[in-house]
Amino acid sequence: MLKMAIPTGRMGEAVIEALERTGLDCRQLKNGSRKLIQDLGSLQIIRVKPSDVAVYVEHGVADVGIIGKDILLETEPDVFELFDLGFGACRMSVAAPKGYEDPGKEILRVATKYPHTATKHFAAKNRPTEIIALNGSIEIAPLVGLSHVIVDIVETGTTLRENGLEIVEVIAPSSARCIANKASYQFKRDEIDALLDAWSEK
Ligand code: PRP
Repeated sequence: MLKMAIPTGRMGEAVIEALERTGLDCRQLKNGSRKLIQDLGSLQIIRVKPSDVAVYVEHGVADVGIIGKDILLETEPDVFELFDLGFGACRMSVAAPKGYEDPGKEILRVATKYPHTATKHFAAKNRPTEIIALNGSIEIAPLVGLSHVIVDIVETGTTLRENGLEIVEVIAPSSARCIANKASYQFKRDEIDALLDAWSEK
């Protein structure tokens, strides 16, 4: 049986719809079900927090997983990235209040849920920063003077717009990716490829 870790929340719903399009009966996964492990014929689904998907795959308790590229960039797990599923598209961006200008010689204060990505981005530009790690509602940070800028994902742009912020720079595009455990991809390659083929044909 192939085991697949999928994220809870917004992206998880898109994954379930995509699985349905491959002909799988996903009724058990819908209607607000809180069952976290579900067998769908030859596929076992494990539903976990988006940021935990790669942990399950890297440790081999899930053979494959669906995860946002933003989280892959942040955590750099030791897995194979197989396939771009296309949905969940957003942009990892630096954003700031409208009219923002870089504070020059001052250390740049950056608030983010993605401290590794932000550190790497500004280190590549030789820009000294203080990274302020937050867990959510990042857009508040520059409004209350906690940071000069934020590094966050922008999907529709609504949160930025409604808080008077704008994109300063796009770091990388993101979307849902299928990842595989390295040993699973060696030993269950036929099963994994069959799943990906069914997916890519839809
Ligand atoms: C994400 C992200 C932005 C927002 C972007 O937050 O961190 O805040 O979505 O989406 P938009 O461009 O469509 O407005 P999320 O909804 O995950 O909540 P959080 O702020 O609590 O992390």
